[in-house]
Amino acid sequence: MPITEKDRVWLKLLLSALIPLMIGIFTVVTTIQQQKMSSLQREQDKNDALLLREQSDNQTAHRHKETIYATYLDDVTKLLMSNNETKRLVYIRAKTLIILQQLDSERRKDVLLFLYESELIYHHPLTTITTLLKVNNADFNGIHFERTEKVECTFKFLYLHHVYLSNASFIGCYIDYSNFSHSLMYNTGFSKALLFRTSFRFASLDRANFNQAKLFLTDFSGASLVGCNFRDAYWTNQSVTLTSANLTGAILSNQQLQRSILTNALLPNGTWGPIRRTSLVVNGDAEQDCSLQGSTNFIGWQISVPGIISLLAYNNQNLTDQYGKCYFRVTPSYTLNQAISASQNIFFDEFTLLISANISNYKASVDFRCSGNQYGYMELIFVDLYGLRYFPVSRRTKTGIARELLTISSSIHFEVRSVQLKVSFIRNTTYTNINGSAEENYCIADNIEFFILKRQ
Ligand SMILES: *[C@@H]1O[C@H](CO)[C@@H](O)[C@H](O)[C@H]1NC(C)=O
Ligand SMILES: *[C@@H]1O[C@H](CO)[C@@H](O)[C@H](O)[C@H]1NC(C)=O
Ligand SMILES: *[C@@H]1O[C@H](CO)[C@@H](O)[C@H](O)[C@H]1NC(C)=O
Ligand SMILES: *[C@@H]1O[C@H](CO)[C@@H](O)[C@H](O)[C@H]1NC(C)=O
Ligand SMILES: *[C@@H]1O[C@H](CO)[C@@H](O)[C@H](O)[C@H]1NC(C)=O
Ligand SMILES: *[C@@H]1O[C@H](CO)[C@@H](O)[C@H](O)[C@H]1NC(C)=O
Ligand SMILES: *[C@@H]1O[C@H](CO)[C@@H](O)[C@H](O)[C@H]1NC(C)=O
Ligand SMILES: *[C@@H]1O[C@H](CO)[C@@H](O)[C@H](O)[C@H]1NC(C)=O
Ligand SMILES: *[C@@H]1O[C@H](CO)[C@@H](O)[C@H](O)[C@H]1NC(C)=O
Ligand SMILES: *[C@@H]1O[C@H](CO)[C@@H](O)[C@H](O)[C@H]1NC(C)=O
Ligand SMILES: *[C@@H]1O[C@H](CO)[C@@H](O)[C@H](O)[C@H]1NC(C)=O
Repeated sequence: MPITEKDRVWLKLLLSALIPLMIGIFTVVTTIQQQKMSSLQREQDKNDALLLREQSDNQTAHRHKETIYATYLDDVTKLLMSNNETKRLVYIRAKTLIILQQLDSERRKDVLLFLYESELIYHHPLTTITTLLKVNNADFNGIHFERTEKVECTFKFLYLHHVYLSNASFIGCYIDYSNFSHSLMYNTGFSKALLFRTSFRFASLDRANFNQAKLFLTDFSGASLVGCNFRDAYWTNQSVTLTSANLTGAILSNQQLQRSILTNALLPNGTWGPIRRTSLVVNGDAEQDCSLQGSTNFIGWQISVPGIISLLAYNNQNLTDQYGKCYFRVTPSYTLNQAISASQNIFFDEFTLLISANISNYKASVDFRCSGNQYGYMELIFVDLYGLRYFPVSRRTKTGIARELLTISSSIHFEVRSVQLKVSFIRNTTYTNINGSAEENYCIADNIEFFILKRQ
């Protein structure tokens, strides 16, 4: 259909109307765009301002850290020079614990180096432990040491007992005669490190990395080594102690396992290493310091009334495999009117893992031979992880001239850490037959033994 004149007029009108409209639209669009741009600009400006503020905040924070660190160095140095010996270490400890919480890992590393250089955490065997800073609970998480061509990383006699050292690293460092016992060292890196004569007793080293490390006389007794990586680590026969260590999920070759002391350890394949089966009592058979005349100063035991219990030789010198040469007995001249006891504290360090796995039994025994108005008893007081003492779990008495074995045994159902084993000699006050001579009234004890056994 051809365009009529009428249409043309309309079209013209429409076009003429469209132009301002388009201009209007253009304006609107531009304005919106401009607004968008300026708001972007504002955003940008705001970001820049934020960044600037952050940087300056960072700088302020950094300066603040520098200041507190400098103040710390100053204070500690002054304290070190003061002669106020008694309070010195206590103050340094307090200052150190507080400052460590305020610093980042880079500065914490400086604190560690400072303490080490000033010999506060440097434990030479000839110095006593009392001149050392107690670093318990100090936060050294995330500190990073690494041997490079420019930086050597050497620690001898480093003393970091019971500190926080997770996510830390000592890559390629040479560490000798050092003490990390009871420290929390999750995920800590020791790859390519040389770790000689160093104690990690009871440290928590889960997921730690010992890749390509070289170890010599390194003690991991009681440590948690769950998921630890020992790939390509090297040690010679018997030079790594893993007694009572938890090796669940640890990466250890058969050769590495064969070369380690695995007593009471939980091995990567879920089996237990060799279980210690010998008695934990020191000198329980009275054979150390034993003499014919009788010795009253002997190894391993505390005597309730010193000098009253003797180690005496069997008078017939009857050397049997079972009883040996000597036994314990109250000095014959002593007129007994109170209980006399020999006691010994036995620590379960080698058995903590078996105990926490709730698969341990104990068994205590003593050979008594008593006569007349005397009898003997044995008692066990267990002490748990928190130092709580439990009432004598077992107390039994024996009397009679025949040699009798007194045995106490049970399961351990709580986290005990030691036992006080006590063997006592007591006078029976209701004993009627008064046959005076001391030789008639006596009690001897021998072969005092205490075992922790693995329950099947
Ligand atoms: C400020 O410090 C934090 C953490 O230390 C860092 O993540 C951030 O990138 C820093 N910002 C600036 C602007 O330096
Ligand atoms: C040791 O220093 C503390 C605090 O500076 C002070 O209170 C104390 O009296 C000093 N002791 C001695 C023996 O100087
Ligand atoms: C160690 O690092 C892991 C992973 O980066 C983190 O989840 C954990 O909180 C860190 N632990 C400590 C004590 O810093
Ligand atoms: C490590 O330090 C603890 C706590 O002071 C101490 O009991 C232990 O004997 C030390 N270990 C070594 C191997 O020096
Ligand atoms: C490793 O030491 C143990 C105990 O000392 C010994 O029985 C064993 O033969 C030694 N193995 C090697 C390969 O030297
Ligand atoms: C578990 O590992 C130990 C040490 O390598 C090995 O002696 C033992 O035979 C293994 N036991 C099983 C059931 O694989
Ligand atoms: C040696 O001791 C054992 C065990 O006490 C005893 O049975 C035996 O009679 C003793 N022998 C002598 C000669 O005393
Ligand atoms: C050994 O470690 C594993 C993994 O953390 C844990 O499940 C297990 O209870 C630990 N074993 C003992 C006896 O503590
Ligand atoms: C330990 O084992 C004993 C006997 O198997 C059980 O009666 C006791 O409840 C267990 N204790 C814990 C804390 O699991
Ligand atoms: C004490 O002596 C009396 C009388 O001889 C006896 O009945 C009692 O069993 C003795 N007590 C002990 C604990 O030996
Ligand atoms: C009392 O002692 C005498 C001499 O030592 C002895 O012969 C006697 O059997 C003893 N009596 C009793 C009841 O033990």
